[in-house]
Amino acid sequence: VAPEASMAKPLLKIQRYFRRKPVRFFSLILLYLTAGSLVFLHAGFVGDNGPGARGGRDSLIASEMGSWASSDTRGLGLMSRVFKEKRRSGRRFGPPWMKKTRQEAKYIGCYIDDTQKRALRGVSFFDYKKMTVFRCQDNCAERGYMFAGLEFGAECYCGHKIQAPNASDSECNMECKGEKSNVCGGPNRLSIYRLELSQESARRYGSAIFKGCFHRPDNVTLALPFSAVIQNMSVDKCVDMCTEREKSLAVLAGDRCYCGFPTPLFSLHELEDEGMCLNRCQGEEFESCGNDKYFVVYQTQVQDNRCMDRHFLPTRAKQLVALASFPGAGNTWARHLIELATGFYTGSYYFDGSLYNKGFKGERDHWRSGRTMCIKTHESGRKEIEAFDSSILMIRNPYKALMAEFNRKYGGHIGFASQAHWRGKEWPEFVKNYAPWWASHTLDWLHYGRNVHVVHFEDLKRDLFTKLKGMVEFLGLKVSEDRLLCVEGQKDGNFKRSGLRKLEYDPYTPEMRSNINELIRTVDAALKKRNMSGVPEEYMPR
Ligand SMILES: *[C@@H]1O[C@H](CO)[C@@H](O)[C@H](O)[C@H]1NC(C)=O
Ligand SMILES: *[C@@H]1O[C@H](CO)[C@@H](O)[C@H](O)[C@H]1NC(C)=O
Ligand SMILES: *[C@@H]1O[C@H](CO)[C@@H](O)[C@H](O)[C@H]1NC(C)=O
Ligand SMILES: *[C@@H]1O[C@H](CO)[C@@H](O)[C@H](O)[C@H]1NC(C)=O
Repeated sequence: VAPEASMAKPLLKIQRYFRRKPVRFFSLILLYLTAGSLVFLHAGFVGDNGPGARGGRDSLIASEMGSWASSDTRGLGLMSRVFKEKRRSGRRFGPPWMKKTRQEAKYIGCYIDDTQKRALRGVSFFDYKKMTVFRCQDNCAERGYMFAGLEFGAECYCGHKIQAPNASDSECNMECKGEKSNVCGGPNRLSIYRLELSQESARRYGSAIFKGCFHRPDNVTLALPFSAVIQNMSVDKCVDMCTEREKSLAVLAGDRCYCGFPTPLFSLHELEDEGMCLNRCQGEEFESCGNDKYFVVYQTQVQDNRCMDRHFLPTRAKQLVALASFPGAGNTWARHLIELATGFYTGSYYFDGSLYNKGFKGERDHWRSGRTMCIKTHESGRKEIEAFDSSILMIRNPYKALMAEFNRKYGGHIGFASQAHWRGKEWPEFVKNYAPWWASHTLDWLHYGRNVHVVHFEDLKRDLFTKLKGMVEFLGLKVSEDRLLCVEGQKDGNFKRSGLRKLEYDPYTPEMRSNINELIRTVDAALKKRNMSGVPEEYMPR
């Protein structure tokens, strides 16, 4: 199975390319053999080709994370029980004003930008292939920002105020990557637009995410330096105040509103019972505003910039570290987290143009360039494994990984396989080929890999802070807790999809299950034999 499997990866790329017109596997093999090593630079995401589309690297991450997004939603459902929030949930999943077409935006000038001190400090996203003025404006407006700025033809920044002087219009001279007819800033220059928001969106901009109820920090003035007493306090008022102050946390304590960022002094790691925070807001009958001792915390749409800078390694890496995983096991998500946590780009054994275009700049380097922190690979051949000095091996529940990869294979990065694919012969064929590969991939890395650090996707999801910290330490870097907390605040990115299409039936037959369960037991035993903890509980058959 192994040689067939390691060949399947390049085939995946080709097959993904042909996803609109699925081609038989056999003809793909012929194509691959005749074409040699082809590189496909495809234009981006399927669902990302029009105004209002929620594009960006993060939707891709969401898709790779599979059920991740949906479990997040469940957490919100829990909160609505206590925090009777009709309007809040509307805000969370997309503000009502976005349903209508947005009003015109007004160009206001060319501004200086500085990578250390950004002119616009809200959310940002890049697209080196398809950035357009409208798409940037649309994404910023959707989050309730006042300004949208485009830079270097491909980068979009949002903000509530402009914190830099203007420059001459002639310095904004780069055309947009996605439309030749329009200007998208220049090198360190932003073309800034003021967004004409409707009355309502101007009043309550942004959509805040409920984080929970937390105990007052020991030294609150140190932990949350900005605060004010608000008349007729409500969640909106506190969120608005903190958004204006460019802080990522809005913290309600009775009639006082605190703003700040998560830090080791207020890490949001110890969630309290929501009942402790039940205390009606002065200005809003159905909202909870917390009290002196127990704080209600929302995350605003302000981007925490403490983990946003990324660079190539300043000196050539002495060690080649692999980030090895089976396809569909959350590799892209792990790269996103590692890049944010370390500040360094990750590389890849392959070249995926769509990933490069979404800001994974290490994607274009040769994997041996020595400029990247670690190198993504799905390979499982002995020679390929032994080429690395050490590796982080990501393992995911095969039931989830197989479905994620099947969706990606037949639906593109953010798309989904159709009912016809699931019900047809593609799915059983896929499981038959890929399930054994899931096991042999892990077994081969455990066997041939030197210095293997195993990370289970599910553990990373459950305890991001500790697991990511372990990965950063394994990579030989000093851990910055502030930085890790910043990553935690944007673990799934800024631009999430509105919902995950779910399969309403179980696609695994009893026969598939019995095969997969056997593979899980084999991997579990191999891990334990190496004195590692076995696979997480939930993999094992109930
Ligand atoms: C900045 O804007 C002002 C007002 O529009 C303009 O007069 C000035 O020339 C601009 N500065 C530069 C450096 O172009
Ligand atoms: C909180 O920290 C500040 C600054 O370090 C200090 O001045 C203040 O006394 C501390 N307050 C308490 C209650 O410990
Ligand atoms: C607070 O609410 C009261 C009663 O609804 C109202 O009279 C008052 O003007 C409000 N104050 C502020 C500052 O909104
Ligand atoms: C296995 O782990 C146990 C406890 O963690 C440790 O005491 C033991 O030395 C380890 N054995 C090997 C071979 O690493």
